[in-house]
Amino acid sequence: MSKHFTALADLSVPTIMALLDRAHFFFHQTTSHLPRVLEHKVIANVFFEPSTRTRISFEMAAKRLGAEVINFDLSNSSVKKGESLYDTLRTLEAIGSDALVLRHADDRIFETLGPKLKTPLVNAGAGKHEHPSQGLLDLFTLQREFKRLEGLHIAILGDIRHSRVAGSMMLVAQRLGIKVSLCAADEFLPVQLPGNCSKQTLDHVLPDVDAVMCLRNQFERHEGLDMDNAAFHRDWGLTSARAARMKPSAIIMHPAPVNRGIEISDELVEAPASRIFQQMENGVFVRMSILEWILKRDSL
Ligand code: CP
Repeated sequence: MSKHFTALADLSVPTIMALLDRAHFFFHQTTSHLPRVLEHKVIANVFFEPSTRTRISFEMAAKRLGAEVINFDLSNSSVKKGESLYDTLRTLEAIGSDALVLRHADDRIFETLGPKLKTPLVNAGAGKHEHPSQGLLDLFTLQREFKRLEGLHIAILGDIRHSRVAGSMMLVAQRLGIKVSLCAADEFLPVQLPGNCSKQTLDHVLPDVDAVMCLRNQFERHEGLDMDNAAFHRDWGLTSARAARMKPSAIIMHPAPVNRGIEISDELVEAPASRIFQQMENGVFVRMSILEWILKRDSL
């Protein structure tokens, strides 16, 4: 059975902590001292949905550890001639890819494909379900800031129902002792709230939380939902007035890309409390850890 990285829900807490520890190890190396543990490996980036951060940071992570990278070009591929996703991945496998980093709109694509492929699969975002490398980099960002995870309280704000980023965090937080408050209008809340998550008004929890995790409004998944962006910003956005009520030690997170002025005020994106660009930096170290884990570290 191949080792895939498809969902944080499937990983034990010791494995998650070991992946984070290894990401911290990579973070503390200078670039020239990074171990080239993936030399002679070929990673294929196979993105069926747009991406800037995830695709490029997987490429950066692979190259920094000595691997080569193939970026599958969907628009010029034989998918346009009707080739299936499975046949496309089998082709990349046959040609010699050692790992397949896949983003796809189907929530359950990894459950379908995982058992059929010998080459390790990495989930780079699956529909509205999970985005586990983002979940791991969000945990890394919290650890880097607070030196711990247990006992932290985070508010997840905005379009939670359509967010795979929230999906990964909500599932893993309980097992790591993180309290989660969900702050959203009913139409943006999950249909079922995970056990550790409670619905709260942002104004109520702001003075208590260690981090506010804003989410991108996933307009492409709204399927006819009528959005009033100005009203959303007023009622549910992280504004400067709301941010001023956060603890001095609290941080602002967002997976990006950011709709400035909708889920978060423009001026907060690069405010002193914001870790949004640091999250992108952290993503490279976390993705090094993931690639090494699926290709090299059998013991975890
Ligand atoms: N956060 C995130 O997944 O960004 P991209 O869509 O640019 O990869």
